[in-house]
Amino acid sequence: MNDSTTALEYPANKLAIGHARMLDAIRHRWSPRAYSDRAVTSDDLTALFDAASWSASCFGEEPWRFIVASKDKIEEYQKMLGCLVEFNQSWAKNAPVLFLTVTSKNFAHNNKPNGYAMHDVGMALATLMIQASSMGMHAHAMGGFDRDKARSTYNIPEDYDLGAAVAVGYVGDHTLLPEGMQKTELAPRKRKPLSETLFSGTWANPAAL
Ligand SMILES: Cc1cc2nc3c(=O)[nH]c(=O)nc-3n(C[C@H](O)[C@H](O)[C@H](O)COP(=O)(O)O)c2cc1C
Repeated sequence: MNDSTTALEYPANKLAIGHARMLDAIRHRWSPRAYSDRAVTSDDLTALFDAASWSASCFGEEPWRFIVASKDKIEEYQKMLGCLVEFNQSWAKNAPVLFLTVTSKNFAHNNKPNGYAMHDVGMALATLMIQASSMGMHAHAMGGFDRDKARSTYNIPEDYDLGAAVAVGYVGDHTLLPEGMQKTELAPRKRKPLSETLFSGTWANPAAL
């Protein structure tokens, strides 16, 4: 973690519990709704999207595209904020950066449907999230946005699918969130045990590692 790591940014009950050798950046990643007004610089953003671009993809096609809006260009920022559902607008408006993930529906090499398009943009986003976490930032994905509005706002071609909207920034004061969200912001994070998600031999048979 870099110098920006503070107790506020990493509340203890948000840390991922698991194997001791899990990467710090994975242990510290979570999806905050409270963001501080600390700016995310262009250099920070370049690091995040460079990291995403080094994700694996089917046929190495890099089907992902991203549309980014920072608060330093407020009109651009408001345009993207306006694509989010009201619930997400109520907290994401404090994040200094928003972006949309988009993915090509078809392979470029043969124009046939790319069944891995959403898979691959998800991998790129996961890579970006871990990079953000390693830099003391967080990125929070949102399915709650108006896809038709985003498509027309940004002239996204029909042969591209929209993935998620994402808020990026540094963790802020949870008491500034709308009241209903404050409890979730502090709640411990949980995960299913591996016995429910990792099988061997046959479906639903927990792997004995
Ligand atoms: C594709 C996707 C869509 C999501 N949509 C929303 C959303 O619209 N609003 C929201 O507040 N969180 C949203 N989330 C965040 C999840 O609720 C969150 O990742 C999940 O509860 C696990 O918490 P963690 O990321 O802190 O581990 C979304 C996450 C993903 C990956």
